[in-house]
Amino acid sequence: MTAIHPPEPFRIKVTEPIRLIPREEREVKLKEAGYNLFALKAEDIFIDLLTDSGTGAMSQEQWAALMRGDESYAGARSYQRLKDAVEDIFGFKYFVPTHQGRAAENILSACLVKPDQYIPSNMHFDTTDANIRARGGYPTNLVIDEAADPASPHPFKGNMDVAKLKAFIAKYGREQIPFGMITVTNNAGGGQPVSMENLKSVSAVYREAGIPFVIDAARYAENCYFIQQREDGYRNKSVKEIAREMFALADGMCMSAKKDAIVNMGGLLCVNDEALFQNIKNELILREGFPTYGGLTGRDLDAMAVGLFEGLDESYLAYRVGQTLYLSTRLNNSGIPTIQPAGGHAVYVVANQLLPHIPNYEFPAQALGVELYREGGIRGVEIGSVMFAYLDPEDNAWHYPALELLRLTIPRRVYTQSHFDYVAETLIKIKSRANELRGYQLTYAPELLRHFTARFEPL
Ligand code: F0G
Repeated sequence: MTAIHPPEPFRIKVTEPIRLIPREEREVKLKEAGYNLFALKAEDIFIDLLTDSGTGAMSQEQWAALMRGDESYAGARSYQRLKDAVEDIFGFKYFVPTHQGRAAENILSACLVKPDQYIPSNMHFDTTDANIRARGGYPTNLVIDEAADPASPHPFKGNMDVAKLKAFIAKYGREQIPFGMITVTNNAGGGQPVSMENLKSVSAVYREAGIPFVIDAARYAENCYFIQQREDGYRNKSVKEIAREMFALADGMCMSAKKDAIVNMGGLLCVNDEALFQNIKNELILREGFPTYGGLTGRDLDAMAVGLFEGLDESYLAYRVGQTLYLSTRLNNSGIPTIQPAGGHAVYVVANQLLPHIPNYEFPAQALGVELYREGGIRGVEIGSVMFAYLDPEDNAWHYPALELLRLTIPRRVYTQSHFDYVAETLIKIKSRANELRGYQLTYAPELLRHFTARFEPL
């Protein structure tokens, strides 16, 4: 059975050509790239599922809004329009625009994190993790155990383990925890949502301890849609009402607008505390720009103001979540394992189950990613040992992540069902000769964030 996929709630007015280069050329491009998909040129890729970040298609209303962009340095009309949208949707007292999500994380960390402090979350995204570490802090992941089991059908696998959070706060105390976070949806754990019930419990724990609560809201609209669909008591609430309820539980949020605000560049940082907001503005002026533009152009602000509402549109969300469900169902029906249930923005193929003969130190998800490009010109992204294995100086041993995943990330409003049929058929072809695939070895790897620039050779 194939899942019903709600059709696109739009028709296509502008097209961008893509081309499948011949197989022999793909082989040459792979070799030139050192078998690292980040090193490929976009023009050599047929279907690009590297990320859903900044890769969405803007609507006619967003393109029209660009023309209204007011490029005044201070107090632009574009800022006012964005402010109206942000206040309407999120309800925080203060906000600044930033050029993208990690800029908001950097400013928040600069204002709040001191060396040797701890910041708990369900799971930090890697830029959040790195921004906290860059200030000498320790990001800590306290997601529920089900998140580590790809087969678990738990409807809210992004939930924080509340007992672990309480124990963590009891251990380190309020002074060592400048703020606490939660990421919605949990990208690092499979794009899985957090329930409203869990958000309420987490908020209560933070508030009782006097710890400010900040939401990483990159994919908040998808999370709110899952709450509407899966959680008791939310069926008759609009996604926007659910969002208001969610953000009322928090003291602030940082957001990459490149996801659920469907813009190619932009971010937001919102707080309720006035003194903190003053510090944020000073930091923003130093690093990003004046508080009414925050490193963006006026037209960027206008596109975001429109995109924020489009990202909440329920027919759009049904279609979007329907796409990940469609692709994952097609793969699962052919015996290709993916993280269950399907996430909001991506399908995560469990590469170590598909390629059990390739050990983690020979990078099974990397091998699958390279083969997907070789076979079909499709680019996914490895989320496994290339990205996360590390040499622990304490025991001088390599530590490998529990899951070897290939993330097929779905840009917003860009690809149609026939693109996903092609992706599924390509993977099914690869599965039929999976035992022939071989692993890879590194020929170059920098110490930090090695997945971006590493080079490999086939074994
Ligand atoms: N938080 C989450 C949950 C994210 O997924 C990302 C980016 C960021 C913060 C940082 O935002 O890129 O605007 O600076 N995720 C992208 C991805 C890069 O491919 O998953 P940014």
